Amino acid sequence: MHTANEIRSTFLDYFVRHGHTAVPSSPLVPRNDPTLLFTNAGMVQFKNVFTGAEKRDYARAVTAQKCVRAGGKHNDLENVGYTARHHTFFEMLGNFSFGDYFKDRAIELAWNLVTKEYGLPADRLLVTVYSEDDEAFDLWRKIAGLPEGRIIRIPTSDNFWAMGDTGPCGPCSEIFFDHGPEIPGGPPGSPDEDGDRFIEIWNLVFMQFEQLSKDERVALPRPSIDTGMGLERIAAILQGKHDNYDVDLLRALILASAEASNTEPDDPATRVSHRVIADHLRSSSFLIADGVLPSNEGRGYVLRRIMRRGMRHAHKLGADEPLLYKLVPVLVGLMGQAYPELTRAEPLIAETLKLEETRFKQTLDRGLRLLDEETAQLGGAQPLSGAVAFRLYDTFGFPLDLTQDILRGQGRTVDQAGFDEAMARQRAAARQAWAGSGEAATEQLWFELRETVGATDFLGYATETAEGVVSAIVRDGKAVEAAEAGDEIALVANQTPFYGESGGQMGDSGTLLTDDGAEIEIRDTQKKLGDLHVHFGRVSKGRIAVGDVIELRVDGGRRTKLRANHSATHLLHEALRRRLGGHVTQKGSLVAPDRLRFDFSHPRAMTPDELRDVEVEVNARIRRNAPVTTRFMTPDEAIEAGALALFGEKYGDEVRVVSMGGTDDVREFSTELCGGTHVQRTGDIGFLKIIGETAVSSGVRRIEALTGAAAEGFVREEEEALARAAAALRVQPAELPGRVVSLMEERRRLERELTEARKALATGASNGAAAGPIAKEVGGVKLAARLLDGVPAKELKGMADALKKQLGSGVVALVARGEGRASLVVAVTEDLTGRFNAVDLVRLGSRSLGGQGGGGRPDMAQAGGPDGAQAEAALAAIEQALIGETVGAAS
Ligand code: ALA
Repeated sequence: MHTANEIRSTFLDYFVRHGHTAVPSSPLVPRNDPTLLFTNAGMVQFKNVFTGAEKRDYARAVTAQKCVRAGGKHNDLENVGYTARHHTFFEMLGNFSFGDYFKDRAIELAWNLVTKEYGLPADRLLVTVYSEDDEAFDLWRKIAGLPEGRIIRIPTSDNFWAMGDTGPCGPCSEIFFDHGPEIPGGPPGSPDEDGDRFIEIWNLVFMQFEQLSKDERVALPRPSIDTGMGLERIAAILQGKHDNYDVDLLRALILASAEASNTEPDDPATRVSHRVIADHLRSSSFLIADGVLPSNEGRGYVLRRIMRRGMRHAHKLGADEPLLYKLVPVLVGLMGQAYPELTRAEPLIAETLKLEETRFKQTLDRGLRLLDEETAQLGGAQPLSGAVAFRLYDTFGFPLDLTQDILRGQGRTVDQAGFDEAMARQRAAARQAWAGSGEAATEQLWFELRETVGATDFLGYATETAEGVVSAIVRDGKAVEAAEAGDEIALVANQTPFYGESGGQMGDSGTLLTDDGAEIEIRDTQKKLGDLHVHFGRVSKGRIAVGDVIELRVDGGRRTKLRANHSATHLLHEALRRRLGGHVTQKGSLVAPDRLRFDFSHPRAMTPDELRDVEVEVNARIRRNAPVTTRFMTPDEAIEAGALALFGEKYGDEVRVVSMGGTDDVREFSTELCGGTHVQRTGDIGFLKIIGETAVSSGVRRIEALTGAAAEGFVREEEEALARAAAALRVQPAELPGRVVSLMEERRRLERELTEARKALATGASNGAAAGPIAKEVGGVKLAARLLDGVPAKELKGMADALKKQLGSGVVALVARGEGRASLVVAVTEDLTGRFNAVDLVRLGSRSLGGQGGGGRPDMAQAGGPDGAQAEAALAAIEQALIGETVGAAS
């Protein structure tokens, strides 16, 4: 038997041998197409290569592409489980020529693969061609030798393939396999073509046109080839089965589902449920691996619908406990090798499925009871009322198609119009409540936009560029249809890679572009009402209108820095907790491209040792270079996993949990609830440097830090400053501390010496015998009056004492000036205190200096004043007093 994995490899190897480049499957969320919900064909990732807008370094490619058809143009959800060939998830094998080979080579390659590599008998094969395509008709005759009766011209659009309403397209030719006359059904184009006898296995599209709009189609620059073969279909044939669900890949999941639910795999009562579970497990797991998470909007809601439909069937099988997540290891075992992203995301997939199933179980039973009661009252095939279906949706979390799926078994439908009406009423009520809540008028505008355009699908965890459709433009506070160069606008698109400011991380900036050359420079992105991403910027070129397709390009360099700083903040937070204690909690944070700031509770300034330890720990974690992981959990589970709650965030039922730093025992170093963008591995942060630790308010400290090149630049500047200092002192930088200490000591010694020298100068002692008279005679008393600059005031008394001794009998008056002020000391020898009081003299002098008072004893008094310029006058005043002897003596 050929396993599906072998069949896939055979296909890829065959085309590689024929000069094709094997290209990995693109993600299920298309990066390059804003109109597509999910990648639904192999050619989606090459759309712009076909149109010539994008160049690759190969002209031939081969892929095994994961595809989802659920919601949107191709929607298979409601039929899955009931038919042999409907899937929400399938793999498309395809070969591509971008202006290289065309019809003849494509037909030849396909025919040889099918008949020689896969060994299908030629007489069991037939083909269709587009009715007007004589060329293809002739080629099939010539290359495959098919008789004319087995080349069927199909006149309808069935043989003209288009990706969507717009995009590359062209006539196609399909290869069919005849399962044999014992199976009912007619050849393609016949009235009973829908039977299971003739099954299409491979579609060869001769890409020739690009559909620009409903009425406009242009030729592609060069004719190209796009083909698609459903792996499940070809595997069914090669494995001798008529039903895709009997193929090994799906059968293994059905058996796993039967075992986990302890039921029979093929019992008519359980068969559909196992098939639904097998299919939905595949689409859910692959979608989660590609970054889609269950939500109530957009892609996330399609995922939720698929998951809940699968879970309802698990419930139908009697499973009391969540079931789907238990099958994830089986799926990863089957497909993880071909799609490594599945293996990488295994924990995230299992946790997300388990969480969704646990939560849905809480309302599923009650919802089903309500549904039973309601249908019991309905007669015959009477449809279920829209109001009840809405209640099931609103209160019990039943997506409409889930209710429809349940009723399908009873041959019953839902009154869809009634459901839509109930939904519209609820929206109106919400609007009313909002209008009454007194929010600002601008917020009212966002609310209205959020209502009409819905939540923005955020793609920025996985990509920095994507296409989107403009859903609203706001200028001067009003929604407008278009804007021109020079206009300042706010713009909303259906999806965006731009991160809206939240959780401390600043919003993204970047550029929006249209095909027509319009350009909008985006300065900032804000998140309104939780999930509306609003881009703020200026139209720099051209004209932009609602409905335009735009390319959204995040400024990648800036985002890389934001990511590094955000991840560094998480490491810093945990390192602080470990070093300072569990009382450390986040009080605020700013993640900017050029720096980060982290505020936390801690009662005192951090010591240099603490700061160093924290920095060392963070850098050790950075060097570990362990991957950063993201998971979704209930808040309780997150807390159990050791998550630190993030400051100021509001949480829904699921929380995003980011872990990093590597595991020591079982736990990751850091685990936080966080919606921000992060590095892939901590090594991407490069290096962290703390540059400041300050107080914000009582009990709250702030650390500022840099990472990567900014941290390196900071260290370099410090180093250069050090080098300059070392050069000035003529030492090596390492010798600086010792040199500075010795310089300081030397300076203190010199200061001391200088003071001594000045004192000596003042008292004349240094001049020894050659000293001039130290005093003059004034009114019969010896007066030593000195003006001293640069002598500290505290030295004056000591000097005055020394001078008194030298005089034997007399008066000493010393003024020292420094920094504008003047200090004055007057001393009177004991024998003269009867005539002159030092306190009076000092007060006299002090008045000249603009001072008040002064004090001391009759033999020694001190004063000061602000007016140093009057120092001479102060001394003169004292001299005068001695002459007049008018100064009252001590009694
Ligand atoms: N793009 C073509 C298809 O999906 C091959 O059928």
